Amino acid sequence: MPEKDYIKEVRALLEKRPGEHRAFVHTYGCQQNFSDGEKLEGLLEQMGYTIADTDENAEFVIFNTCAIRENAEKRVFGNVGILKKAHSENPDMIIAVCGCMVQQEHIAEKFRQSYPFVDIVFGTHAATRLPELVYKHMTVKKRLFDIGEGEGCMAEHLPVHRDNPLKANLPIMHGCDNFCTYCVVPLVRGREKSRLPENIIAEAKEIVAAGYKEITLLGQNVNSYGKGLETPISFAQLLREVNAIPGDFRIKFMTSHPKDCTRELLEAIRDCEKVCHYIHLPVQSGSDDVLRRMNRRYTAEHYLDLLKMAREIVPDITVTSDIIVGFPGETEEDFKATVELSKKARWLMTYSFIYSKREGTKAALMEDQIPPEVSSRRFQELLELQTKISHEINESYVGKTTTVLFDDECDAGEGYISGRSFENLVVRVPRESAPKGFAKVYLKESLGWALDGEIIKTEE
Ligand code: SAH
Ligand code: SF4
Ligand code: F3S
Repeated sequence: MPEKDYIKEVRALLEKRPGEHRAFVHTYGCQQNFSDGEKLEGLLEQMGYTIADTDENAEFVIFNTCAIRENAEKRVFGNVGILKKAHSENPDMIIAVCGCMVQQEHIAEKFRQSYPFVDIVFGTHAATRLPELVYKHMTVKKRLFDIGEGEGCMAEHLPVHRDNPLKANLPIMHGCDNFCTYCVVPLVRGREKSRLPENIIAEAKEIVAAGYKEITLLGQNVNSYGKGLETPISFAQLLREVNAIPGDFRIKFMTSHPKDCTRELLEAIRDCEKVCHYIHLPVQSGSDDVLRRMNRRYTAEHYLDLLKMAREIVPDITVTSDIIVGFPGETEEDFKATVELSKKARWLMTYSFIYSKREGTKAALMEDQIPPEVSSRRFQELLELQTKISHEINESYVGKTTTVLFDDECDAGEGYISGRSFENLVVRVPRESAPKGFAKVYLKESLGWALDGEIIKTEE
């Protein structure tokens, strides 16, 4: 690995400077991007940096960006801008921007023209070249742009600095081939590619051996895992293999695309005792016409049939979804179809988004973009409906017991801490009563958005 030399070179340069060298990675966007951020942190550590919790006094700050919606991008520009002063005051400070945003030409150009204090810009496929870029920047003091090809965080055996002490991300594939017409991911992440099952299993074993209690298998569409591999394997088979690893841990995965969600997968969830009874199955819209124009390749009826099958096979499964309101041409009628679907689907929770026009996508060229005030009204209406449904579902769990993973990270305020149950419920308990790890919890009251629980003491 040629990077190795650059890692050593950077380390040597840093050792010549006194003191600790703090680095901070700001990651935005999806869990995949967080996983990439953990690899960038791994590389930074090898180069001799200490990973900090904030960018305060950091000598190296990386913005690992997301391009999914305009808001996400605006936030990055704002936060990068804030560091201009610190950068001008510290000649050793390096600011880098990477990830999905810079993979778009007009954005890379904006950083080049309007953010002269950004020292390094590297794309999603250039991550393995970070040590080389840092070394070159340190030695020639020039701005560097690398949006070229490469394996990026897809490369095997990259070091990882895992941010959570008990929960580990495990990417099983990269990229996306679905080309939903609103979505920028296929444009910035490239074609879908699955990792070899043996590499995934080996990493899962390392994670378990290191004491992690939860593994989340990640991909933009995990249900199509294995396509294109020399020895094809389905996601359901992979799930069974990860489940077979001995140890006290649980397994989650995201995201599932409804068009590829199969009976085989649901049966694997039922059969694998470590796989949580929870599936994130984004529907995006309840209108068949909108779904067709989004290129989602299923209908609302197919989606409901899937939910029915899921609940027959795994009766206590909970389901969450993503919804986009204000897709170009979305009529009142279309929106009502989404409302109706929400009532029928009864998701535990939804992540709703106002459609954001993304350059280079097909939907950006569609006529009849929806005025913001119409989208906002629809968004609000959906939010109110979903809040009511979520509250009813949480209420229905009162009096039951479940297993919750507490990791000390999720502060729920007022002396409480929250964790996720095996069915993905948010459960809150007094901080001093919570262990670090799994606990049996009695669900005594609904708080609406979560459940108040009481730890059930078990005899050792
Ligand atoms: N691969 C996943 C989703 C990844 S993006 C899937 O297909 O389900 C996460 C969510 O962001 C999407 O589910 C969608 O609801 C939302 N999203 C994507 N592009 C968007 C856009 N242009 N405007 C608004 N929301 C968008
Ligand atoms: Fe985007 Fe669709 Fe791929 Fe999800 S499946 S990442 S929404 S193109
Ligand atoms: Fe955003 Fe890139 Fe993920 S666009 S949602 S960070 S793949």
